[in-house]
Amino acid sequence: MPKMIKERQEGIFLPFAPREYDAVGEEAIAVHWKEEELIQPKEEFIRQANMTDVGIYERFSEKNYPECFKEYGDMLSWDRYWTETLDASNPPFFKWFVGGKLNACYNCVDRHLQKYGNKAAIIFAPEPEDEPYQFITYRELHRRVNEFAALLLDMGVKENDVVTFHLPMVAELPISMLACARIGAIHSEVFGGFSSKAVAERADDAESKVLITMDSYYRSGRVIDHKARADESVNLCKETKIEKVLIWERYPGKYSSSTPLVEGRDYLINDLLENYRGKRVEPLSKPAEDALFLMYTSGTTARPKGCQHSIGGYLSYVAGTSKYLFDIHPEDTYWCLADIGWITGHSYIVYGPLSIAATSVIFEGTPTYPDAGRSWRIAEDLHVNIFHTSPTMIRMIRREGPDEPDKYDYHFKLMCTVGEPIEPEVWRWYYEKVGKGEATIIDTWWQTENGGVIGSNLPALRAMKPGSCGIGMPGIYPIIFDDDGNEIKAGSGKAGNICIKRPWPGSFQTIWKDPDRYVETYYSKYSKLGSKDYRDYYYFAGDGAVQAADGSFRILGRIDDVINVAGHRLGTKEIESSAGTNEEVAESAVVARKDPIKGNVVDLYVALKPGFEPSKELEEKIRKKVGTDIGPIARPSGVHIVPDMPKTRSGKIMRRVLAAISNQRECGDTTSLANPEIVEVIKNQIQEQEKG
Ligand code: WTA
Repeated sequence: MPKMIKERQEGIFLPFAPREYDAVGEEAIAVHWKEEELIQPKEEFIRQANMTDVGIYERFSEKNYPECFKEYGDMLSWDRYWTETLDASNPPFFKWFVGGKLNACYNCVDRHLQKYGNKAAIIFAPEPEDEPYQFITYRELHRRVNEFAALLLDMGVKENDVVTFHLPMVAELPISMLACARIGAIHSEVFGGFSSKAVAERADDAESKVLITMDSYYRSGRVIDHKARADESVNLCKETKIEKVLIWERYPGKYSSSTPLVEGRDYLINDLLENYRGKRVEPLSKPAEDALFLMYTSGTTARPKGCQHSIGGYLSYVAGTSKYLFDIHPEDTYWCLADIGWITGHSYIVYGPLSIAATSVIFEGTPTYPDAGRSWRIAEDLHVNIFHTSPTMIRMIRREGPDEPDKYDYHFKLMCTVGEPIEPEVWRWYYEKVGKGEATIIDTWWQTENGGVIGSNLPALRAMKPGSCGIGMPGIYPIIFDDDGNEIKAGSGKAGNICIKRPWPGSFQTIWKDPDRYVETYYSKYSKLGSKDYRDYYYFAGDGAVQAADGSFRILGRIDDVINVAGHRLGTKEIESSAGTNEEVAESAVVARKDPIKGNVVDLYVALKPGFEPSKELEEKIRKKVGTDIGPIARPSGVHIVPDMPKTRSGKIMRRVLAAISNQRECGDTTSLANPEIVEVIKNQIQEQEKG
């Protein structure tokens, strides 16, 4: 039976025009999934949940939009109340809580002191198990943030300056974020695992003069000399010069890096803090619409996009979703395993949980080191009752220790997953083994651009459905369009491009210094550009999705030139341009190869310039270069040096064909290629490699 018809009979097929990337097949993961049964949350969970009123969906329905978001805004403490909930007069640049003034640090720290001063705000779990947990109470957090804020002011950091961070998973990261927020500076954290080049590019783009880093940290049993990367970053900066490098010490008072301090540039924070004991800095009252932070993410070009997030809208949205969706109560212990270097950590380790007085765990290490019981020991030790991670982590923990959870005495009330589609089978293992059949699971769909979760079920209000994220969050109205802009209805069995109908407070405001790219990337496909009516604008997420008759969405993966590896977005162009910096490389093409643990891994095809010969060494050199340029996460799992690329007559590389080869699928129609004979050559080469 032809594949298309079979898929139609199974209920789902992809109607996308056969653009190059559609067949690369992140979507293919999910396309064959069957309708799954519904699983009800336990009564015990419902009884204690923050949000048990079905009326919330009515309250946040379109007829109450945009005023409905007052409910989230009211969760914060404002210095001056806003006058206009949404100013949509200049779409798609939307302003929330206009006229309002507040401080994000005050909302996450100061206002909890009276009631929760001596309660843990942050629990730091160091990687070495013989090092004790650090319990940082709200009062202690307040002290440390104030002292560091005072230091930053003396370092010349001013309101609206962008301070770049390159920090690992340590308590000093949220402390630095909150200190910036306190004085009205904008932070831009670059994931600790990213390369010095990635840091330099982002610091350049943001015109940062100050870099905050750490001397060293632990990762899978190794001590990483992190400060060494800061030296490289400073040297690699092109446009702006980083004038000051502020260095936290992993062990205060004991500098642990092989690189010397540069006189007049490098400062040991812990030394300097001695002079700031007891110093207090008034939280600066900021307009709601000012920027809180930048978070760079991959797009379809080689240049990462600095997503600019606001103070009032963003913080309201993460507070609201932390309370209603992640069901965090001040007496819970909440652990999100994501890295704060990604948006999930910003929103759901730091700002969301702290804004509602949670206890948030920060873990330095990896969940399978030194063994697969590590996570469950932390959960048991700290009485974690809300656990948040990604499908990749779940697959990894399952592979390393399928029965480990049984050995530990912990109980989760809620478990969350984020970052990539989760296969129903993996979902069930998570539910039965990790959650011991007790915990409710939420599958949360969103993106760096969105600030907070936009697609998920409120856990006490809707049944769980393995593999589906659920419905739009309150006040979020997703809609699926086909390529021609026709709406694809729920239950039609067809997939399309998922979009969001109305703006919401958590959404980013623009791309830093590039408003045109913001409009072009997110609002050109389905919006009536030029219209003054904000209802003519649809946010285009770049994900394929299908909506079941019951309204729940299943996200099928990226439809653009972005690969999701282990829950992280990598731009194919970013990787290709790194490969192209090797003098031997003439052309390169990146495709996603399915991987049982990481969802996808990167396969890199390269053709060499005349005069260069393929070799194992060269493959390794190219692989390493990508690792150094972007970070280990982008390092291709396969580098294939091929005699030529499959190309159309107009000279475009057909990535679709390469993706099919990488994933051992049929290549489909290759008659339009200028060099169809190359397909067999590459196929044989890859098969030989697999055998070898
Ligand atoms: C994917 C991470 C399926 C999606 C918060 C999106 C998901 C990209 C889910 C954003 C989910 C995120 N189910 N796919 N629950 N959550 N994605 O910017 O393709 O790092 O566009 O933000 O991850 O990745 P980002």
